[in-house]
Amino acid sequence: MKKAIYPGTFDPITNGHVDIIQRASTLFDEIIVAVAENQTKRPMFSIEERIRMVKKATKCFSNVKVIGFHSLLVDLSDELDANIVIRGIRAVSDFEYEFQMGYANASLKKELETIFLMPSLEYAFISSSIVRSLLPFNGKIEHLVPHCILGDILKKEDYVCTL
Ligand code: PNS
Repeated sequence: MKKAIYPGTFDPITNGHVDIIQRASTLFDEIIVAVAENQTKRPMFSIEERIRMVKKATKCFSNVKVIGFHSLLVDLSDELDANIVIRGIRAVSDFEYEFQMGYANASLKKELETIFLMPSLEYAFISSSIVRSLLPFNGKIEHLVPHCILGDILKKEDYVCTL
């Protein structure tokens, strides 16, 4: 039984994240999408809101489970007995941060393997921060996030988006 953790802040979940989850769900028996509280990033959405959106966006995948976590990723991996971490890589600019994090996690727990997956080219430019940066300007986001969470995003900030 191959179990993998897909950790992230998911502030909010995007079509790029869903693409990675879809790919991972065909490669592993179980994917645990782990939503980090991540107070250092001061997320726009609360952890409860982010978990709710990730659950909605992944409900069609039968082998995907969604949880929240407040601990170190290595401690979560012990708790879940899962030694595979999935991360999405979109461009060269992602590599530095991802390699640093991957090596830091490996220095804490050598059994932990980080596996990088590439999203479809059409999603390669999408990030949660791009979505958040469009919101104050009523920028169109319907092509960036799953349709089922559009309402949750708009409700949160009272933004009148042009959808
Ligand atoms: O979506 P993000 O913000 O790039 O995800 C970063 C995340 C949540 C995977 C990372 O910050 C993390 O693993 N946080 C948990 C705390 C931890 O283990 N930190 C040490 C990683 S070097």
